[in-house]
Amino acid sequence: MEHTAQPTIKDTAADRTSSAASQANCPFAPKGQAKNAALCGDTPLSVHHIGYLVRNIDAALSAFLQLGYTIRQDTVPDPIRGIHICFVEKDGYLIELVSPLDSSSLVSGLLKKYKNSPYHICYETNDLDKELARLTAQSYTAIDAPTPAPALGNRRVVFLMSPFLGMIELLEA
Ligand code: NI
Repeated sequence: MEHTAQPTIKDTAADRTSSAASQANCPFAPKGQAKNAALCGDTPLSVHHIGYLVRNIDAALSAFLQLGYTIRQDTVPDPIRGIHICFVEKDGYLIELVSPLDSSSLVSGLLKKYKNSPYHICYETNDLDKELARLTAQSYTAIDAPTPAPALGNRRVVFLMSPFLGMIELLEA
């Protein structure tokens, strides 16, 4: 049987121009490759939690505990956003449960659309303002301004919308 030549992967301008520093810091580039480094910027983003929208936070918390999760933070109100919020963890995965304080809450509208489901991934960054500027210069739209989050030690968070990924959250480290 005739040997089939392996397809060659052409390098791109992005590969050639991305700096060594951004390659080293890029959390998404496979080891030894840096195809996405030019898009990742030079400030690493790390996944902090998955936001999970629920109608009834007490019932949802019980259901997560039945699956073997443990409570990382008890339920607290966040009057800035009009939500109840708590954190549970399993196998290193941190899940944020969010339910509306009342029907005027922004998340009441989201609940009608999403039901009980995950609705954002939160990324921690050492430079919130820089990452916000970088992402909004790409395809992201900020849907609020950086605001302290009482449930996260009053660290600043901001939410962005991607036409390709839906909602993400940035959290100041
Ligand atoms: Ni969140």
